[in-house]
Amino acid sequence: MKTMLNVALPKGRLGEKVYAMFEKAGFPCPSIKENNRKLIFENEECGVRYFWVKPSDVAIYVERGAADIGVAGKDILLEYEPEVYELLDLNIGKCRMAVAAKQGFRDDTDKTLRVATKFSNIAGQYYLSRGRDIDIIHLNGSIEIAPILGLSDVIVDIVETGATLRENNLSVIETIVPISARFISNKASYKFKSEAIDKLVSELAKQVEG
Ligand code: PRP
Repeated sequence: MKTMLNVALPKGRLGEKVYAMFEKAGFPCPSIKENNRKLIFENEECGVRYFWVKPSDVAIYVERGAADIGVAGKDILLEYEPEVYELLDLNIGKCRMAVAAKQGFRDDTDKTLRVATKFSNIAGQYYLSRGRDIDIIHLNGSIEIAPILGLSDVIVDIVETGATLRENNLSVIETIVPISARFISNKASYKFKSEAIDKLVSELAKQVEG
């Protein structure tokens, strides 16, 4: 019987790019292009089943084995540190994790720095490594508002084009780490389905290099 690969794809624009790469790598599933609200698509002949999940949840599905493989942003992998194998940098979904503040911001090192972020672990580790005392204010979105309203001094967030920062009169003061989409695998799945997974990874790697 053909190995069935269960794939968690990040729903949205990045996921569509990822699907196009998987399709080209020998795992097409035409029904996925039907514009409906279904979340699971299967192509038994090719041995693949795709799930559309929230981008920040991909690593959870893969870590717990509900999906064998998936594609997650490096931001999510650094933040949640899931027990998965990171097998390939797909070199798409590129952005950076950065510290930003209101224009003219000066860090007063006598005071605890108030940091608003969705990425509390990344922010905590970053400032710990620099020996800077911080107070983390964990938010779930619209982080850019925090310094404007005086809720925080700085934010730690994803910057892609920089448009969101610009339009809110904020600017990057430090880049923490570059981010891109990564191919990840469940650890047990990689043992039992290594042949299919390795083949897919090498096909994807050719696309990344090309
Ligand atoms: C991210 C991030 C910024 C924005 C940056 O938000 O949190 O708000 O994208 O992109 P830009 O530099 O191109 O403007 P996302 O759209 O993922 O949603 P969020 O508000 O839930 O964080």
